Amino acid sequence: MRQDYFKDKTALITGSSRGIGSAIARKLALAGADIALNYRKAGGASQEQGEQLCKEIEGIGRRAFLIQADISSKESVKSLIKETKERCGRLDFLILNAARAPFKPLERLLERELRQLVDTNYIGNIFCIQEALPLLEESGGKIVFISSLGSRFYNPSYPLGSMKAAMESVVRDSAESLKDRGITVNGVCGGIVKTDSFKVLRQYIEEIELMPEEMVMEPEEIADTVVFLCSPDSRGIRGQTIVVDRGLSSRLFRPPKKS
Ligand SMILES: NC(=O)c1ccc[n+]([C@@H]2O[C@H](COP(=O)([O-])OP(=O)(O)OC[C@H]3O[C@@H](n4cnc5c(N)ncnc54)[C@H](OP(=O)(O)O)[C@@H]3O)[C@@H](O)[C@H]2O)c1
Repeated sequence: MRQDYFKDKTALITGSSRGIGSAIARKLALAGADIALNYRKAGGASQEQGEQLCKEIEGIGRRAFLIQADISSKESVKSLIKETKERCGRLDFLILNAARAPFKPLERLLERELRQLVDTNYIGNIFCIQEALPLLEESGGKIVFISSLGSRFYNPSYPLGSMKAAMESVVRDSAESLKDRGITVNGVCGGIVKTDSFKVLRQYIEEIELMPEEMVMEPEEIADTVVFLCSPDSRGIRGQTIVVDRGLSSRLFRPPKKS
């Protein structure tokens, strides 16, 4: 890979004020890209963390912009992409990272929760792809979706898993349908990662307590694979969702024991 490949390129990472999204933003900035950060809830901790991260990225010499937008709203996504274009001038990498879902069985979801689940985690991601297309076509850009093991394995309190599975199909399908427009689409399916949502997850998935500490991942491990998928080194990979889980999914039928 050319040393300066990421220089003067721009990445938009949805839901990047904290957690895995912020690790992806840092890694892409360190690689040389300018960054459009996004969060949903104005006036809260997320906004504060996003502002802090903006300063941190500027500190390493890259441009960074923080844009509030709720990806579940078409209008909001339109203004997210418009602002990205106005501020950055281009878009090379669209990282679909934002997610929001209740932890409870599908059959107990209230109508409002079910709609929010689909609106944010499926429709919202597709809004982002649709609106970013002209910019990505111009740059020959890449889309990377962040999935989780819930796409492949059942957990009673994780309705988000079915949306992740649907999106992994979108990764496969859009990789084909967008190929002729010069756009590459792939995904990263993460194991259990230490973030704010991990703290909530452990209250609902008791098996997590049985997991040895070394199976719990750092956000940077997901971020490194995202940077790889954004780089020309991944040119042979299209329409794939790569599992990055420290081998956890290989052990699912042999529950790991704490030492
Ligand atoms: N943590 C894990 O163990 C794990 C494992 C595998 C995959 N993943 C996936 O990795 C991604 C990031 O997970 P995380 O644990 O880092 O999440 P997190 O700590 O809960 O952060 C989620 C981020 O998404 C934003 N967001 C939520 N809804 C949004 C919306 N409608 N529009 C725009 N932004 C929105 C949040 O902003 P606000 O704070 O403003 O809402 C926040 O910045 C998710 O797709 C998740 O499913 C996580």
